[in-house]
Amino acid sequence: MTEQEEDIDMIPKESSLVPEHVAIIMDGNGRWAEARGEARHAGHRAGVSCVRSTVEECLSRGVKALTLFAFSSENWRRPESEVNFLMDLFLSALQREVKRMQTNDIRLRVIGDVAAFPDKLQKRIRDTEHATQGNDRLLLQVAANYGGRWDITQAARRLASAVRTGDLMPTDIDEKVFARATMLNDLPDPDLFIRTGGEMRISNFMLWHCAYTELYFTPVLWPDFLAPEFVKALDEYAKRQRRFGQISAQIEQTD
Ligand code: IPE
Ligand code: IPE
Ligand code: MG
Repeated sequence: MTEQEEDIDMIPKESSLVPEHVAIIMDGNGRWAEARGEARHAGHRAGVSCVRSTVEECLSRGVKALTLFAFSSENWRRPESEVNFLMDLFLSALQREVKRMQTNDIRLRVIGDVAAFPDKLQKRIRDTEHATQGNDRLLLQVAANYGGRWDITQAARRLASAVRTGDLMPTDIDEKVFARATMLNDLPDPDLFIRTGGEMRISNFMLWHCAYTELYFTPVLWPDFLAPEFVKALDEYAKRQRRFGQISAQIEQTD
């Protein structure tokens, strides 16, 4: 196979009506709370129930992987009290939800530089990942202290080390090998990217992986993003034609 053919081999052969992997930037919690005259914290707390409803909808629709952006590598720049609140919220949500994950056959994986988190939270993450590792109905990935550039950089570092130890030749590094060194490893790229909260930007989310992802932006604030809003995004996805460089006629032929 030539290098070009190998690259093309990475492209999904058929697009399905249900995305296999959905990635979401859950934005707008602060504005939701402020609009009600409440502290920003209230918005973060309210957002947790939307995580639950989105997960349930993924289970019932057969989505296989859901990646949620919970805390970016840039969010450390927020006021300390908000950062601490988010850490506590993550810890208590993990504690509270582990049973539900077991019952629903959900595997939890946290992607990001978790070493920067308080020890208690790191332990809770490890324990929850371990407890749910055998579950395979839905992979729930929480991106925490995650940045797309960080992910690409850590992949480059990993590959450079493998080259130095002689386990890899520089010429072995192709897109597949590189992708495997990112946090997503063998997981397929997101089919559908959703950003709530009205901002039209990627904010350093999965930069490598969203190369051909379908993008969906909605002004709805995350705490209002309940099942009907998620269904709208899924319906919109089902109407998209994914061409991966081809022309419509070629896609229609294979339909
Ligand atoms: C997203 O909501 C949640 C996190 C970044 C943790 P925001 O807190 O960014 O809410 P807005 O954008 O200020 O409304
Ligand atoms: C992106 O939201 C990060 C998360 C949702 C975790 P932000 O609200 O931090 O994004 P920017 O900084 O406004 O782009
Ligand atoms: Mg925001």
